[in-house]
Amino acid sequence: MKLNPEGKIVILTGAGVSRESGLNTFRDADGIWAQVRIEDVATPEAFARDPEGVQAFYNARRQGLRAAEIQPNAAHLALAELESDWPGEVLLVTQNIDDLHERAGSRNLIHMHGELFKARCEDCGSIHEWRGDLEVTSPCPACGDSGNLRPHVVWFGEMPFEMDRIAAELESCDLFLSVGTSGSVYPAAGFVQEVRMAGRGHTVELNLEPSEGRDLFHEHHHGPASEVVPDYVHSLLEGVGRR
Ligand code: APR
Repeated sequence: MKLNPEGKIVILTGAGVSRESGLNTFRDADGIWAQVRIEDVATPEAFARDPEGVQAFYNARRQGLRAAEIQPNAAHLALAELESDWPGEVLLVTQNIDDLHERAGSRNLIHMHGELFKARCEDCGSIHEWRGDLEVTSPCPACGDSGNLRPHVVWFGEMPFEMDRIAAELESCDLFLSVGTSGSVYPAAGFVQEVRMAGRGHTVELNLEPSEGRDLFHEHHHGPASEVVPDYVHSLLEGVGRR
């Protein structure tokens, strides 16, 4: 597919892009939601009911993400290469709360579901880098209040971040890539439809297997992200003489 070198590319990623880095997805057989219930750890009601249990869930995931063996994989690196070498704008919208895209070099990046290595104070609204354990008693570094620091992640029933900016980018993009997501959670699952309704962008699914939204994509490349993403990115860059 020939794309205008000045074309705008919007990329959506999900847990599948980090699977080969050693982080579990959510809905695969060995996924996170096969081990714990969403209702127990990923809703505001769960946090109100059992703050220690919710903090422990995210403390374990934060500890896992800090492990030395968790590194960006070839898919993360290829998406960062696309951002740096593509002549037009490239925006990466990730559903993931890990920091592997940043560590791979992506800069024009939106974490629509928040970030595991950040904490937010429900009292003063301040947001802080937080790589260690977060406890119910942890005091807010800004206002000093205890008991109101939570993971800066979006729980079910909460609004994802930067939705207005994302909607505008989807409407005006020339190419939409969906990478490593099952297409089962909205609003992200509806992004491909927003691009199709704008009538402008070419839509491509890069996933291990067909997602729930498979029929909405113009083009599909199925296989491990560490293979299909670099292959696709390199063909794009070759098409504009950047590789
Ligand atoms: N390469 C590419 N895709 C893969 C790989 C891989 N190595 N391994 C798994 N996948 C695919 C799966 O086939 C699946 O389609 O990644 C997708 C992962 O889907 P989910 O587990 O549902 O994760 P995701 O789509 O990111 O979930 C969306 O749901 O629970 C919420 O907030 C959470 O952000 C998450 C959202």
